[in-house]
Amino acid sequence: MGVLNTVALAALCAALAISQALAGDGGEMSDMRAVLTVDGVPGDPEYGEYLVQECTACHVADGAGGVPPIDGIAPGYFRLAMIEYADGTRENAVMVSVARSLGDEELAALAAWFATQQEKQD
Ligand code: HEC
Repeated sequence: MGVLNTVALAALCAALAISQALAGDGGEMSDMRAVLTVDGVPGDPEYGEYLVQECTACHVADGAGGVPPIDGIAPGYFRLAMIEYADGTRENAVMVSVARSLGDEELAALAAWFATQQEKQD
């Protein structure tokens, strides 16, 4: 198995661990929980801001090209969407591969970045 596959598998395992943790609270993920790793370490919003550059090539603010905007997305909704792409519940090939390439720390960082963007909207 190549390194990339191992990384993808690790990400998937992390995602599954999160979904299992979520099953306890009815499948909902609070925005507060979403910005944490499975170990409860807060995500780094600056790292998230760096990572999101990879996303905004497709995800433009006005949803052009049929790609939904992710500006100001709720952190809990974001984490659940990524879990659903990683585990195949959501079947978009591009996003499945994006979701599987991101680890727990990266997802927490992105969620933390989205949380800072939400605060600005309030
Ligand atoms: C190559 C283009 C592309 C890239 C790069 C990309 N996405 Fe996506 N993304 C899409 C498309 C297309 C969809 C709609 C898929 C569907 O119908 O499920 C989507 C859907 C999503 C959704 C679900 C939105 C909703 O309203 O339910 C989230 C969340 C998301 N992407 C986050 C990200 C993040 C975070 C990154 C960067 C790490 C990223 N995407 C990178 C194309 C992309």
